[in-house]
Amino acid sequence: MKVTVFGIGYVGLVQAAVLASVGHDVMCVDIDANKIENLKKGIIPIYEPGLTPLVEETYQSGMLKFTTNPEEGVSHGQIQFIAVGTPPDEDGSADLKYVLAVAETIASYMDSPKVIIDKSTVPVGTADKVSAKVASVLASRKVDIDYDVVSNPEFLKEGAAVGDCMKPDRIVVGTENENSRKVMRELYAPFNRNHDRMIFMDVRSAELTKYAANCMLATKISFMNEMSNLAELLGADIEAVRHGIGSDSRIGYQFIYPGCGYGGSCFPKDVQALIRTANGIDYQPSILEAVEKVNYAQKQKLFENLNDYFDGDLAGKTVAVWGLSFKPKTDDMREASSIELMKALWKAGAKVQAYDPEAMEECQRIFGAQQGLDLVGTKESALKGADALVVCTEWSQFRAPDFDLIEAMLNHKVIVDGRNLYDPQLLKDRGFAYYGIGRGDSVKKAG
Ligand code: UDX
Repeated sequence: MKVTVFGIGYVGLVQAAVLASVGHDVMCVDIDANKIENLKKGIIPIYEPGLTPLVEETYQSGMLKFTTNPEEGVSHGQIQFIAVGTPPDEDGSADLKYVLAVAETIASYMDSPKVIIDKSTVPVGTADKVSAKVASVLASRKVDIDYDVVSNPEFLKEGAAVGDCMKPDRIVVGTENENSRKVMRELYAPFNRNHDRMIFMDVRSAELTKYAANCMLATKISFMNEMSNLAELLGADIEAVRHGIGSDSRIGYQFIYPGCGYGGSCFPKDVQALIRTANGIDYQPSILEAVEKVNYAQKQKLFENLNDYFDGDLAGKTVAVWGLSFKPKTDDMREASSIELMKALWKAGAKVQAYDPEAMEECQRIFGAQQGLDLVGTKESALKGADALVVCTEWSQFRAPDFDLIEAMLNHKVIVDGRNLYDPQLLKDRGFAYYGIGRGDSVKKAG
């Protein structure tokens, strides 16, 4: 099938390459000429396992094409994906200007029937707005061409995006148009073998499904973070509690890991956007508000723990930070807990020596000019002359460090572990002060 994808960000590029890899003829359109030229040379703007070879292979085979010419893009595909960004507005609601601009572009150039797919995460009601935009442009062109706007939200996880796209748990399709349903079935047939993963529904339900999924996951995390705070105060160990409740299949083990707060491009933005949507219809979403509030507080914990250890005197201290990305296997630092930590440390007059396996360039891009930031090439060099170690991201290379070396290199024997990677008892035996998340038996200050 002939497919066009507008917006070659995370979602657009992964979706395009995966569709091309199964034999669809896919054209990617982006206004960023530099990005398009780089992609043609095999330079991928993001770090995502498996994506570079997939883009190279499909580009070489001719199934994946890149252009900056919107007219060429519109005439190429019977199917037109809108996968541009929906950044939060000042007030946290999703900004639709890019989505509606693509809708206008499609309507301005189309001369044959199109199935237009909203792939970006957009508020409930957006498909109606896209439809209205297309209708008004077609009317002003005085042409009557069939089209349908379908909501087809994306559920991929960063770091596992290619796999998630190749083997989706479900393919949610919101449209009541029979022809569009047939087209979507054919498009996704290669990913829908063995058992039927396609779930058809009306447009608004599909739009809300995406938000409900992400907000549910964010709720699980904030719930566990709240439990971890209680565990700490009550002298319980949240890791034992996690095990205990996860064994109930109604709860399950996934997404109940306590930590230093959720980040990334989805959860914080989507929780906020759904709150704004609710407010806009005079509904106060108490659970969502609490989820956000708990997450904000959780992101402050790393700093609070350091502050506790050093009795509020962090000025002139140097802190080794392991992990900058919001989670492992990505270089994405959007809404990462490391950012909150570093900003608080700088404000308190401390210095940061940071290392991340993938996010060093990204950190340089964001904080390059920042005083008090030293980006170093290995996790060991981050410890050099440092007063404390903080783990922000659970990269596998941080899981079993050489504690003798850490002990020898740090000025103070203190580890703040934002991901509960280490055994509190082991560190206690070694004489470390250890601040985990919700470990009642944590051995704070014992060092
Ligand atoms: C998420 C959803 O998982 C995905 O389905 C959706 O399409 C986009 O948003 P992503 O943002 O890539 O994906 O990351 P995810 O792995 O879900 O992690 C999000 C954040 O939650 C990370 O900061 C992670 O550290 C945190 N997290 C996750 C926890 O703190 N505890 C957990 O148990 C799980």
